[in-house]
Amino acid sequence: QWTTSSIAEDQVKRIAEQVGDGRAICGLSGGVDSAVAAALVQRAIGDRLTCVFVDHGLLRSGERTQVERDFVAATGVNLVTVDARERFLDALAGVTDPEEKRKIIGREFIRVFEQAERDLKAEGDYKFLVQGTLYPDVVESGGGEGAANIKSHHNVGGLPDDLQFELVEPLRLLFKDEVRRVGLELGLPETIVQRQPFPGPGLGIRIIGAVDAERLETLRAADAIAREELTAAGLDGEIWQCPVVLLADVRSVGVQGDGRTYGHPIVLRPVSSEDAMTADWTRLPYEVLERISTRITNEVAEVNRVVLDVTSKPPGTIEWE
Ligand code: XMP
Repeated sequence: QWTTSSIAEDQVKRIAEQVGDGRAICGLSGGVDSAVAAALVQRAIGDRLTCVFVDHGLLRSGERTQVERDFVAATGVNLVTVDARERFLDALAGVTDPEEKRKIIGREFIRVFEQAERDLKAEGDYKFLVQGTLYPDVVESGGGEGAANIKSHHNVGGLPDDLQFELVEPLRLLFKDEVRRVGLELGLPETIVQRQPFPGPGLGIRIIGAVDAERLETLRAADAIAREELTAAGLDGEIWQCPVVLLADVRSVGVQGDGRTYGHPIVLRPVSSEDAMTADWTRLPYEVLERISTRITNEVAEVNRVVLDVTSKPPGTIEWE
């Protein structure tokens, strides 16, 4: 019988066979796929696995802690965090074009991750690289090994030319819902296992305008409030994802307390979807919208207006950039 625990057991056995007494590296993104892949490998080879987590500074509130504290507590895994926040901010300074942002973030990510791999290789004989490739990724990209590597650029920066690794891909036969079930079975934190899709370039493509530390702080605070209220209202299951977007180059006049304000709007973009190819805007209850709006405008100093995106995909994409 193909139960969740038999999937996990079976994969742990396969990984142990593949890796033998070798060492493996796994990049963590904060998302479910890399976390579950890492947890399975950890079960199989213990402290011969080292995980690498790159903090590019474009994460949401709490995501680094979820990896550094909660994931490590749940798995006992060896973790190396690379704090690359300044490097990414420098590289992104003044850049407003969405595709240029993506290119810069992708490029810097690969560089930082490759350096971490080199540092590890210098310390020990790491022969294996763990990837959280899912079955739909394998099918989408044509099924071959090379094809899976293309997708891997998303999470771990792909394979550097000068470093040879053998791939370990324990999720290759699984769909997302199976991966989540395996994650729960392995005792991983709910915040990671149930996380909704979050783009690799992170908050970098949710600031409309140039990215800087202050704008990131503003967006992070607003996003945390929106997520908190949606979860409290029990709406996570209905929503595919809810980007929270800062219109950093737009200002509007408002009034708060005794004074006139001239702040930025925050956009809520809750969508319902099956696969992100098409999406509909989620009809959130007015009371929930009201709570989010009141809290964001009260608690986030730079924001004096909250607006709701009521566009389907198509014509609008899910993200604003
Ligand atoms: P769009 O905005 O194209 O998004 O409707 C569809 C899905 O893809 C995610 N997305 C990205 N994921 N890197 C990623 O890893 C990206 O550059 C990127 N852009 C969009 C988006 O969050 C949604 O789930």
